[in-house]
Amino acid sequence: MRQHHMHKPDHSHKEKIDYAKMAITLDHNFSMAEFVGPEKGLQEKDLENLTPRLEEIDQQIKTWRQEGTIGFFDLPYQEETAKKINKLAKKLKEWCWDLLVLGIGGSALGAKALHQALCHPSHNLFPPARRSYHSRLFVADNIDPDYLYGILDAVELRRTVVNVISKSGSTAETIAQFLFVYSLLKGRLGADKVRDRIVLTTDPEKGMLRHLVQNEGFPSLSVPPNVGGRFSVLAAVGLFPAAMVGVDIEELLEGARFMDQRLRSASISQNLAYRLAACYYLFLSQKARPIQVIMPYAAGLTGIADWFCQLWGESLGKKYALDGSIVHVGPTPVRAVGVTDQHSQLQLYMEGPPDKIITFLEVDKFQHTLAIPRLYPEMEGMHYLGGHSFAELLQAEKKATAFNLIKAGRPNLTLHLPEINPFTLGQLIYLFEVTVVVLGRLLNINPFDQPGVEGGKQTTYGLMGRQGFESQRREVENAPPVLDKYVL
Ligand code: PA5
Repeated sequence: MRQHHMHKPDHSHKEKIDYAKMAITLDHNFSMAEFVGPEKGLQEKDLENLTPRLEEIDQQIKTWRQEGTIGFFDLPYQEETAKKINKLAKKLKEWCWDLLVLGIGGSALGAKALHQALCHPSHNLFPPARRSYHSRLFVADNIDPDYLYGILDAVELRRTVVNVISKSGSTAETIAQFLFVYSLLKGRLGADKVRDRIVLTTDPEKGMLRHLVQNEGFPSLSVPPNVGGRFSVLAAVGLFPAAMVGVDIEELLEGARFMDQRLRSASISQNLAYRLAACYYLFLSQKARPIQVIMPYAAGLTGIADWFCQLWGESLGKKYALDGSIVHVGPTPVRAVGVTDQHSQLQLYMEGPPDKIITFLEVDKFQHTLAIPRLYPEMEGMHYLGGHSFAELLQAEKKATAFNLIKAGRPNLTLHLPEINPFTLGQLIYLFEVTVVVLGRLLNINPFDQPGVEGGKQTTYGLMGRQGFESQRREVENAPPVLDKYVL
């Protein structure tokens, strides 16, 4: 099932995709006043009023691109990197069955999302031949010791490649995992065999992991210095794990290029990313809807929704505006999955506080439709389903949910993916990356930093005894003691 998603890195016999038919589209009718009323919905003039701001942002993006300050815009064009990664992956897959990724945040979520969306849903459960000898993927993005132990217990250590991914090369969680797994492998396989099995993905020049590459000869891949963690899925960070599990990474980049060219050639009013960002901005700033739900109607896109939440949370949740004033802005991203969460969160979205804008991801064509048998004609409650397919039922449920939301005055929008494949995923990833940048600029904040995460990291260093962080440790030790009356 879905074997054709597990392309081998050799592309010589690849079927050409009809790109125009695979274009993602945005339908934001249900966000507009015509459908949810003038108070709750957007008016065309609200969107038009944003044009001068969007023109400024468009200019800013052009400047960034010319100066090369923001690197993710160039990632779709790294065809050479993709070739190099495919070559390495092909060589490793001659003996490797399992890829273990050690990384967190932007260094983990992209790989997880691609694996989940583009491989067979049971990829990791299949024996090697059934996976066309592509690796299984395990992403250890938590340091819960039971979790890490559990993963290490499951992988075939002698046939495992470890990919340590850290752009900074200093993230405590990833470094601790590296130390553990490196020692474990050394103990099992002997020092001389270990090195070739640990691929370090990090900054090309700086940081402790790069130091290890230079001094100890670990194989390595680079994250361009001007690409931030959460924008790095189309760099080696996401591409290498994807290639190892059999994703067609050249097609993924092709999809991102297609979206880039589409966005660059569109007028402001026809630009998908600008329109999406404008809708989100207006709901946040003028319609008091600070919660942004991302709801794919496809189980395979759950990881993409998680990736989206990190991209949104870290890029947009900011204390300071660009002029240094305190603003405390940012939408709260929430992941929901259709149809599963229709039976969990939807009640809240339908009748709870009117503070959400919901974005559906709808897939027009699934790989399998699965017909529902016509049985029990005497029982209408069963019989009506017969002759339809699961794909039809899923699409009907999405349509019903979107429609009932607008009936309740709850705006929503839909991104249509003609199919789930590397080409559409490349488009979607790139679209969200550009959208978050535009939305960040509309909010007048810097979408590329994450100063709020630093405090916790530094306090952890202090608590773990790292030199130079003694004051952070003292700060915790000198904090007022907790009160017994509040501990039950
Ligand atoms: O998006 C980001 O910048 C973060 O989520 C990072 O990816 C995360 O903190 C891991 O950082 P690093 O890759 O430096 O280990």
